[in-house]
Amino acid sequence: METQTILVDRNVNKEETYTQAVEILKNGGVVAFPTETVYGLGADATNGEAVSRIFEAKGRPADNPLIVHVDSKESALHYVQNVSDKALHCMDAFWPGALTLILKAAPGTFAGNVTADLDTVGIRVPDHPVALNLLKRVEIPIAAPSANISGKPSPTLAEHVFHDMDGIIPLILDGGATEIGLESTVLDMTSEPPVILRPGKISKQQLEAEIGTVHLSTEIKNNAPKAPGMKYIHYAPEAPVYLIEDKPALILKAIEHVQRSGKKVAVLSKESYPQADFHFALSGEALYDSLRKCDLMKVDLVLAVVPLNPEKGDALMNRLEKAADHKWFS
Ligand code: TXA
Ligand code: MG
Repeated sequence: METQTILVDRNVNKEETYTQAVEILKNGGVVAFPTETVYGLGADATNGEAVSRIFEAKGRPADNPLIVHVDSKESALHYVQNVSDKALHCMDAFWPGALTLILKAAPGTFAGNVTADLDTVGIRVPDHPVALNLLKRVEIPIAAPSANISGKPSPTLAEHVFHDMDGIIPLILDGGATEIGLESTVLDMTSEPPVILRPGKISKQQLEAEIGTVHLSTEIKNNAPKAPGMKYIHYAPEAPVYLIEDKPALILKAIEHVQRSGKKVAVLSKESYPQADFHFALSGEALYDSLRKCDLMKVDLVLAVVPLNPEKGDALMNRLEKAADHKWFS
């Protein structure tokens, strides 16, 4: 299969930009498109065969449900039930935006493989003109996980999608770099108080300002992973990633130690470390691109410099811990 890329650029509001994508999606195919968080790999959420193409393309485990994207709160309300006042309030306060709400799915709506046969669904309205234009035109709910090979860093550029999906999917809509760079906050509205299953740009504080107490899943004892996706390896480049404290003397020692064994070391940090073989930027926006650059440069080991006292539930820290599988350099 040849993978075509359409550069959206100045044609965000032009009909022709979306004709092909809409046709592919309506016929059960898969299309990659930008959102404000990361690129998504979309398919018709009501069509099980279409959805299975997403799982195949990504090599994603079947027990990890997908997020459904719709164009508005009104559309979302067609597909869910038992929606609490708090959930409605979140929709008004944060949609379109980087907040996925876990709600009871209306029976018979979604293909079983979208929700991994759970009776709940993760749903959001993305805040990106290309995503919104596409969703408005296609008029079906679109299941879309991040458009990367399972386990790899999520794509923040169309080039990242092409790298992972070339020859596997027919079409990528290229809307440039995504603004946020980390996936949406996933908030389970079926628990009371609601629980953040995956931290994102929309913080616990922001949510609490709107709906009162919200818990972080990591603070709840003995809980089995409720967002099934959180138990898998994520965001990992080929080379092992180690977290390291933001102490220049320690970092310089670590660089030297790795290089002494003939290995190429990359440092991910705000400040530059010219002693390292490579230095890449570390921020929410830059993280996934930096991790992918480590692969391109065939780095042997990655040191990710983390702030001394990261806040609980910080999205960047959450992704770093996953990329490093919680390993610290010592
Ligand atoms: O920013 C984002 O959310 C991006 C863009 C493309 O919208 N999408 C994304 O999807 O990150 P994905 O599939 O890579 O992540 C979905 C996360 C997983 O952790 C999954 O386990 C959780 O949401 N999830 C989905 N449905 C769920 C459900 N019914 N109950 C609990 N967790 C769910
Ligand atoms: Mg993902």
